Amino acid sequence: MSKRGRLELLSKHKKLLTSNVLRWYGKNGRDLPWRNEHDPYRVLLSEVMLQQTQVSRVLTKYPQFLKRFPSFKRLAEAKTSDVIKAWEGMGYNNRALRLQKLAEVVLDKYQGKLPRDIQQLETLPGIGRYTAHAVACFSFGQRVPIVDTNIRRVLTRVCPPGGRGRSPEEEETWTLAESFLPRRHAHDWNQALMDLGATICTAALPKCDHCPLVSLCPSAHQVRRKKPAVRKSEPGNGGIPNRIFRGRTIQALRKLKSRQTIATSVLAFRIKPDFQSTDRRWFESLLGGLEKDGLIRRVARRRVSLPE
Ligand code: ADE
Repeated sequence: MSKRGRLELLSKHKKLLTSNVLRWYGKNGRDLPWRNEHDPYRVLLSEVMLQQTQVSRVLTKYPQFLKRFPSFKRLAEAKTSDVIKAWEGMGYNNRALRLQKLAEVVLDKYQGKLPRDIQQLETLPGIGRYTAHAVACFSFGQRVPIVDTNIRRVLTRVCPPGGRGRSPEEEETWTLAESFLPRRHAHDWNQALMDLGATICTAALPKCDHCPLVSLCPSAHQVRRKKPAVRKSEPGNGGIPNRIFRGRTIQALRKLKSRQTIATSVLAFRIKPDFQSTDRRWFESLLGGLEKDGLIRRVARRRVSLPE
C-alpha cells in the first residue's frame, strides 16, 4: 500500500489509534517527576538533561540540580564553575554552559520568563526544534507535535515512508507527527509516544504483542533484530574518543578547591595515565577545544581550572 493510502487508512482509524495509545499510557506510562511539572524552567531543565542522558541518571540528577538552582535567576547568577560541578555525572558538559547562558538571556531579554513562542524559543542557546516544541507542549499546553528518536521510530513503523527501507526526511517525520496529533490531550499523547518508543517499540526487539497499535501497524512482528549500527569513528587517542578525555578533564577540574588550579603536565597524566611526549600536541588541542567552548580557563600558560 502506498504511503498516501496508509495515511488515509490511519486517519480513518485515528480515533481508535489515539484512544488505544492514551489508554495504554494511562495504565503503563512511566511515573517521571517532570511529567507533573508545568513550570517552564523545570520542564526545560528536564528536556535538556534528557537530550543526551538516560532517564535513570536524570531521575537522580534532576532533583539535585533543581535544589541547587531552582530558577532561571539562581542559575544565571551562579558561578559557572558551580554549574559545571552540579552537572557531574551527566556528560556533555557543554549543555550546562548553554543552560546558564540561556538563563542569562531569559533574565536580560525576557524578564526572567521563558517566551511561549516556538520561534523565539528556538533562538535561545541550546534549544533546537525538539526542545522548543517539548517546552511549548509540556509547559505552555500548546497543541504541537514533537519528534525525538523514540517518537520517530514509532511513527515510521506505523506509517513507513514510501520506498523500501528508506528512512524518512526529518521534515517528513514532523509532518507525520502533526497528522497523528489528536485534537486534545497533546501533552499525554506526546509523552505516551515517547514511552511507547522507549519501552515497547524499541529499536532492537519491539514487544509487538504488548503494543496498543499492533492491529494497525504494518511493521508489527516484522522487525528483525538489526545488527548494531556501526558507530561513526570519532576523533580520539589510543582508541578512546576525545569526548571521553574531555569528560575526564572536566572531572579532574571539578575536584579542585575553589581558586585552585592544576598544572597541565599533571592533568595530562590524570586523564591519560600512559601519557607520552608524542601525545603533547593532541593534549594541547584537546585543552584548546575545551577553552574555546568556555569549559576551562587557562590561568598561566601551563595551568588551568574551571571557569570562575
Ligand atoms: N526523553 C526526552 N524527553 C522525555 C520526557 N519528557 N520523558 C521521558 N523521556 C524523555
